[in-house]
Amino acid sequence: MTMRILGIETSCDECAAAIVDDGSHIVSNIVATQIAHHAEWDGVVPEIASRLHVEWIQDVVNRALLEAGCGMDGVDGIAVTARPGLAGSLLVGISFAKALAWATGKPLVGVNHILAHLYAPLLAGDIPYPFIGLIVSGGHTLICRADGFDDIHILGTTIDDAVGEAFDKVAKHYSLGYPGGIAIDRLARNGDSRACRFPIPKLDKGDHRYDMSYSGLKTAAIRQLDAFWDNSYPRSDENLAAAFEKAAVDILVSRLTRAIDDTGIRTVVVGGGVAANTYLRSQLTGRADMQVVFPPLALCGDNGAMVAGIGFRMMQRGDRDDMTLNASPRVSSFKRGR
Ligand code: KG4
Ligand code: ZN
Repeated sequence: MTMRILGIETSCDECAAAIVDDGSHIVSNIVATQIAHHAEWDGVVPEIASRLHVEWIQDVVNRALLEAGCGMDGVDGIAVTARPGLAGSLLVGISFAKALAWATGKPLVGVNHILAHLYAPLLAGDIPYPFIGLIVSGGHTLICRADGFDDIHILGTTIDDAVGEAFDKVAKHYSLGYPGGIAIDRLARNGDSRACRFPIPKLDKGDHRYDMSYSGLKTAAIRQLDAFWDNSYPRSDENLAAAFEKAAVDILVSRLTRAIDDTGIRTVVVGGGVAANTYLRSQLTGRADMQVVFPPLALCGDNGAMVAGIGFRMMQRGDRDDMTLNASPRVSSFKRGR
């Protein structure tokens, strides 16, 4: 019998809901983006984000049900992102999901946003465990070994800024467009990355073998451009975007390569908003030493389908949350080590 899950995602600036059958078949997937509302500030304003979620959430969930052609009586369970994320934003989705669960008597489960991103590519087909996961978004940058949908061991993380955050901050500083990652990706296609050779952080010792750092690159791009620019190239936005993007992605690729060489696990699953990046995709696709699985572009950023997908797996196992389900803004403690 089919198990139909409603997934709700409000951890940041996307107000999203989806209906997914058996954790694999997307029946509907509605993402209402707040991009236009934050563009004026070149970044997500938490207060605005939560207020818009409050206004939009019911309509977004209704649209997901409408597109799926069912009412709440056709839904077997409700999954909602509960951590990590912006507290005020998370609380809107959680409170809405709780109210819905209470009113309909349907089971409820709170989902980890990072695990949900890692699940997104699995909506398109099964991927056998173990695999190496690379989560790259505005809030997170991590490499892990995944032995199951919620059994992950962190190999490395950023020690400072997230990679998407670095894209966003550099784009903001040079007024390249918003959201910064998408703007830089677009500009970089017409730029030459040789115009500027940014320093690559050397985090090679012991515990830092798979860790990444973005604050140095961000500072170099924003404050020390003169020192790294090759003046035989014009100082164009396109060249800056290409050079920054190359450095940012090369950091990820070098750590990832190390992780697959050390573990011998050659299947790589990428998730999160930066997984949409054209240069990252080109660098990891077609390599002899790894098989990489990217989510379809529509599932790279925040969405309800990935939440419903992993929610199905959790509910199938018997996981349930009650009315005490709460938001936790920080990442829960994953196991660290190989
Ligand atoms: O996963 P996501 O939608 O939200 C978080 O969980 O953070 O990721 C958003 C991040 C932003 O930093 C955005 O600039 C970045 O993903 N991003 C990109 C691209 N598309 C979105 N970064 C680089 N290239 C892209 N094409
Ligand atoms: Zn996300």
